[in-house]
Amino acid sequence: MINEFLPKIKEEILQIHTENELMNLKSKYLGKKGEFTAFTNSIKDLSIEEKKKQGPVINSVKKEIELIIADKFSEIKRLAIDKKLSEEKIDVSLPSKGVGYGSIHPLSQVSEEIVDIFLKFGFEVFEGPEIESDHYNFEALNIPRDHPARDMQDTFYLEKGELLRTHTSPMQVRIMEANEPPIKIISPGKVYRCDSDVTHTPMFHQIEGLLVDKNVTFGNLKGILNEFISRFFGGDIKTRFRPSYFPFTEPSAELDIEWKDKSGSKTWMEVLGCGMVNPKVFDSVGYSSDDFTGLAFGMGIERLAMIKFGITDIRYFYQNDLKFLKQF
Ligand code: DAH
Repeated sequence: MINEFLPKIKEEILQIHTENELMNLKSKYLGKKGEFTAFTNSIKDLSIEEKKKQGPVINSVKKEIELIIADKFSEIKRLAIDKKLSEEKIDVSLPSKGVGYGSIHPLSQVSEEIVDIFLKFGFEVFEGPEIESDHYNFEALNIPRDHPARDMQDTFYLEKGELLRTHTSPMQVRIMEANEPPIKIISPGKVYRCDSDVTHTPMFHQIEGLLVDKNVTFGNLKGILNEFISRFFGGDIKTRFRPSYFPFTEPSAELDIEWKDKSGSKTWMEVLGCGMVNPKVFDSVGYSSDDFTGLAFGMGIERLAMIKFGITDIRYFYQNDLKFLKQF
């Protein structure tokens, strides 16, 4: 009879642990063909008085059944969440994956190392603009228009006659224009040339050096650069000053070092350009070449880093491949 439903359902629901089982129970009693539904359908055969008596009872039992099922449903949900939470518990005693540290880029390391050496020699550091005028990049350095030396440098030209500096040498002119001798400076920075292969990138880095005073000689130039090479590459390295040509120095030289490659065989490697400041450059900044002489040099940071670390492709510096960068 109707009084039997609730105790029976309460009994059965104790055995239920999943949503599926609960759905089955629900349809067993309340579904279209459910037991309780069948019972309620049977009241249509009763007399009017009986219907009036049974109706409210049936309704309240049905509500009670629905309530029991809804409660069970929340219980199942709650247990599922508790289970998930307990499985996801963080074990604070597990060893960590470790923190990845960044490192200073090899080009910055090399640049800082070079700057440090020259600081110890008493040079001061100045930086200058990457967007230059034709005057500073070429004209004042004795590279007039139509001069064949302009072909050596594939220039990126900008609007209004400006350009991206092709070397750090314009800093020689800027520093001399703004100061009186004695001058003893280096100037690191980015330079740009329209050129790209395993040893060239459109942007690269140089460090310029300039020393102007009374009685500066080629001997001073050799002494400073030999000492620099021995400090930078370490130990006893043979150097040779090979005659060369730059419009802004006279005489000019390229400095080669004797370098052992991986197989152990020795080769001469060109590392930088240098020379005595050309009197024409002094003229353009208003210095008297009767009173002063100067030495100058310019080196490529990428080139020095490639020699020092045995890197064969300049593009490694710019690919940000951690496997490459972590070696430094
Ligand atoms: N500016 C030259 C270049 O980019 C390098 C250079 C050569 C700089 C001789 C100098 C120098 O100061 O004296 O190729």
